[in-house]
Order: sequence, then C-alpha cells, then structure tokens
Amino acid sequence: MSIRGSTDSVLLFYTINYVEYQRRYDTITSQEKTNLSHGYIPAEEYREMSNLGNYQTAYERFLKDPEKFWSEIASELEWFKEWDQILEWNYPNAKWFTGAKCNITHNCLDRHLNTEKRNKVALIWRGDDGSERIITYRQLFREVCRFANGLKSLGARKGDRICIYMPNTPEQIIAILACARIGAVHNVVFAGFGMESLHSRIRDSESRFVITSDASFRRGKRIDLKSIVDRAIVHTSVEKVIVHRRTRPRTELYSEIEIDFYDLMKERNYFIEPEVMDSEDPLFILYTSGTTGTAKGILHTCGGYMVGTYYTCKYVLDMKPSDVHWCTADPGWITGHSYIIYGPLLFGTTLLISETTPDYPDPGVWWDMVEDFGVTILYTAPTAIRMFMRHGEKWPEKYNLDSLRILASVGEPLNPEAFEWYYKVIGKSRTPIVDTWWQTETGMHMVTTLVGEKMKPGYAGKAIPGVVADVVDKEGNSKKAGETGILVIKGPWPSMMRSVWGNDERYRQYWTQIKDYYVVGDLAVKDDDGYIQIIGRSDDVIIIAGHNLGTAEVESALVEHEAVAEAAVIGIPDPVKGNIIKAFVILIDGYSGSEKLANELTYHVRMTLGPIAMPAEIKFVESLPKTRSGKIMRRVLKAQEMGEDPGDLSTMEE
Ligand code: WTA
Repeated sequence: MSIRGSTDSVLLFYTINYVEYQRRYDTITSQEKTNLSHGYIPAEEYREMSNLGNYQTAYERFLKDPEKFWSEIASELEWFKEWDQILEWNYPNAKWFTGAKCNITHNCLDRHLNTEKRNKVALIWRGDDGSERIITYRQLFREVCRFANGLKSLGARKGDRICIYMPNTPEQIIAILACARIGAVHNVVFAGFGMESLHSRIRDSESRFVITSDASFRRGKRIDLKSIVDRAIVHTSVEKVIVHRRTRPRTELYSEIEIDFYDLMKERNYFIEPEVMDSEDPLFILYTSGTTGTAKGILHTCGGYMVGTYYTCKYVLDMKPSDVHWCTADPGWITGHSYIIYGPLLFGTTLLISETTPDYPDPGVWWDMVEDFGVTILYTAPTAIRMFMRHGEKWPEKYNLDSLRILASVGEPLNPEAFEWYYKVIGKSRTPIVDTWWQTETGMHMVTTLVGEKMKPGYAGKAIPGVVADVVDKEGNSKKAGETGILVIKGPWPSMMRSVWGNDERYRQYWTQIKDYYVVGDLAVKDDDGYIQIIGRSDDVIIIAGHNLGTAEVESALVEHEAVAEAAVIGIPDPVKGNIIKAFVILIDGYSGSEKLANELTYHVRMTLGPIAMPAEIKFVESLPKTRSGKIMRRVLKAQEMGEDPGDLSTMEE
C-alpha cells in the first residue's frame, strides 16, 4: 500500500487532511479493503505516525528497565522536587516517585500558560438544552484558582475530603481541580446516584464539604439534586454545602451552611499557589462496587496517577496537539476522572464535555457535535454504540465525520458486531478502534489495542508497555492459549490504587488471592499472539450500560423495604445494555407478590441507589438456592434463567 510518506508528512496528513485520506483510501484495491474489514488496519501507516511507534520495541524497553521506563515518562512533567526513588515495592504496597513534590493542577494548567497553549481552548461544553460554553486554558486556570481561594476561605485544608455531586458542567471540573489545587481529597459521586448511595459515600469518606448543583438536566427534564443532598447530609460530618445554582428563578438557599458557588468565587484572587503535595499524598477517593457490602473507596495518590494518565493519553489515545478529544463518560466514573479531566489536561488537549443524552433530541445529536466541533478522538462505551446500531446508519450518515482519527471504547467487552459497526459506519474503515480495558482500581489503561497494532474484534488487546498481564489458574499458573482463566496483573504500576479508604484489608485482598498478582476480578482468554479477550466479571459485580454495580448493594436496598425478607439479584445479558438486573425476592409473611408491589420495589431501589440500579424484572419466590453456609448461589439462579447447566451443586443445601 502506498499511502505513506515521511513520518512528518504522514502526521500532518493525518491530523489535518482527512478528506484527502478518504480519497486515497478509495484508490486502494478491494483485496486490501477486505483485509481492513477483517480488522486488519493498514497497521504500518498508523504505527509510523503514532506516538508509540513500534509496540514490541517499547515493550522491550520497559522490560529491560521498568524504573527507567517510568522515570523517563515522569520527566516529561514538572515536579517541584525530583524523586529520591522511583519505586518502593513492599508487596502488596507500592510507593512511586518517593520524595517527589508536585501538584497535578500545576501540570494540567500552569505548565501550559508559558507556552502557545495559553489561549488554547481547554473545554468546550454542550448542555442538555444545546447551550455552549468555551473556556481557554488561561480562563480555566483563573476560575480554578478563584474557586480554590473560595474553598480556602471556608477553612478547607490539605487532606480534607470534599464530596462533589454535580452534573457534567464546567463548574464540576472547576470544583474538582480546585480541590486538587489546595490538596483536598475529592470524592466525586455520580449525579445519577440516589440519596442512600450519596449518604454512604459522604459518611465513609467523612467529607467536610459537599459541592453540588441545584439540578441536572436530562432529555429536557429537570432533575433536582439539591433535595437529595439535603437528605443525604443528615447525620454526617458535612459543615458546608456549596451550590451551583443553574435554574431560574434561583433555588432558595435556606440554611446557614449553604453557599452559592459563584458568591464563593466573588472577589477572590485569580491566583493561588498550588499546594505542594508529596507524590504519595492522596489525590482522590472514588467509590466502586464491591462483591460484598458497601462500595469501596478506591484511593489514588498524586504522583503516580499523574504519570499514568498522562502516559496513556499520549500512547494509548495517541493524543496530538491538534486533537479535539471527546470522552462521553461522566466525571462521576473513573473514565471521567482519568480521560475527561486529568489525562487530557495534563497533555494540554482540547476537550469536549457534554451533558447530552445520545438520543436526545434525536439520535443524531452526538454526530452533530462531532461535526460541529471537529472531534478527532471519540471515547465511548459499547452500550452507546449498540444503541446507535439500533437506530440505524441513517443518523451518522447525515453528518460529516471526517475529523475522527481514533475511536476508543471502554467499560465492557466490545462485541465483534459493535466493533464492525463502529469501525465501518463511524470510522469509515480508516480509524483504529482502541478497546481499552482497565478499572477504577488501575487508574489508567492496562490492556488495550494500540494504534498501529493489528486489531482483533472481540479482543481488548495486549498489555501496554509498562504493564504485565496474564491469564492464570487459581494457583497462578499461566493458562494455555484459548483457555479461560483469571486475569491478573503482575507487579506494581504508577497509577495503581494505594488502598481502599479506611480498609487496608480490603485492599490486600486484591493482591493476596494469588501471590504476587493483582487479581482484577475478570475472566479472560489469551490467544497465540498474546491478545486478551475479556469474558466478564468473575464475581458478583454486574456491568449495566458500562456502569458496575454490586449485587450486594441492590440486594440490601431491596431488603430495606418493609415487605422484603430476602433478595438475590443477577445480571441477565441484554443486547444494548450488556446486562440488566433481575431480582428474586422472598416476601415477609403477610405480603403477597403483585405487579403493584414489584413497581413499588423498583421505585424504592431507584430512590435509594439511583436509576441505574433499578431491576428490570422482579420475581417473587419462596426460597433461594444457598450453600450450606448460607451464601446465596447466584450462579444457580443465573443458570436457571439462561437454561444452562448450573455446574457443581455439591455445596448447595438440601
Ligand atoms: C469492565 C471502568 C471488557 C471489566 C474503566 C472491569 C471492560 C470493569 C473493559 C471495571 C473493556 C472495563 N472490555 N470489559 N474494554 N473496560 N471493563 O471500575 O469487567 O468502572 O473489571 O472501570 O469494567 O469497571 P470500572
């Protein structure tokens, strides 16, 4: 194939002239196109212009000297003081860049102000109602400093936990960065979560402040957030609530502890020195579902997380200075933390953020935005792609999507059908599909397709340079190619979680199930080329539309209802959402199962945990399959539902 020139001209050609690429693509032979449609991208071309270059060479460089590898990346960022040691590995506890001093906002903001990025657009925001705002790096810097000064004026200090419960708006990003600026530990709670989820996260993290909005908007409907906060802070340590008031007439602030977001910024200085943070000081807590009990507060620290997210933006998402990056996640999830906010700002790219729903006002809205803003990197979830597939090609076809250069995916397996559609209909068979596997706990991408490497539909890809991944049995022995096993990561990496907030034992459990390995909780298969296919969770976490929920959380919400004695929930495969929740409920004597009661229970879960946790179906039963020690055997329920073999039943009680 002859669509190659010198590295520079190829780069220019890719980043500027996609139409020209399309024209040249049209001239390649049909045999070559057949190869493309089988998932074989013209790899050499992408490799030449990618930041990573040759995967094998980069991986070998990492294996030869992992610490040197990471220190070279870390050196691309600015530190107030250099590290004494790159890694202190005291299994299973790691410290990265020990002795180093930094502040992630210095690298996200200040660092760019002395460069040509000073007046570059940092954020483009599109609201649910179609309104837009554009904020440059310099403006963002000033707003973050002002808000940080506001927080200081309330007495917020380094190490304080601050809970952020806001929709996807520039104010949310300002609030998050302002916390990091002063060294406060942010604890962002997805605004789709309900009262109980918010309350338990505030309590567990002992947050002193809550930053919220009066409302979020979805499909033109106003959703009240403030009243949820009012109830969630009862019996907690919250001292002040800062409210971003978006609606008119203005929401009244009644109590003494409530302050308006912009009043807090008024007359504040446009500069504040970044708090000097130790590399290992906490940066944030983010809650994720566990297999048992309450959600786990995953703790990330300043230095390592900064290096990991910067690195993966550069080499996995292959960011270039001219990119417009759109990650469609919500900052309430790790994807939003790492790839809406921190990574892209560290890299100094322009990012699009949006409150929009993919099918409102119509299923063309996202493609309209891609065309309007010239999005080059689109990072979304399989559930969204499958939803678009259902609406048909006619929607994306209305828009010019030539600006797209990289299509990325996260959250759950990208099934081959969705891969093909994403690649052909959105990418016009010329953009790589980067399927990124990682977790809240890992902080950054771990196993993924890399630009310039062969793509295999259905496979996430290989471990990135810097990461060692394997598929093993319970004893830690590598599985043969083609055999299903446990996905593990060997050894530490900079952006790994440092602990579970207030529960070191829960942290250790990730590392002690199989000696020396971090057990991720997913089942996977490796092929002969080392490509990893993710099969799904091996534990009681259900992934619904890319959001993970613990069965335990939903079950305990159900049991809280006065009519429920016991409950078990399982995930049932769904063509669009990946999974939906089915609940089995035993009622307390005197209650009888009816449609009305089922609706009431669904509503109860919605109010407690939020809309994403709502069971799609509730079945009233007399008993549940259990082990002799009393543990519910969800796999038996699932096998029954799916008409499959339930497997070993020797531990089941009579
Ligand atoms: C699943 C999201 C297959 C997986 C970044 C993991 C995936 C869990 C992929 C973590 C992918 C994430 N292919 N499965 N590309 N990405 N998962 O913590 O089960 O919200 O363990 O982090 O999502 O979800 P979390």
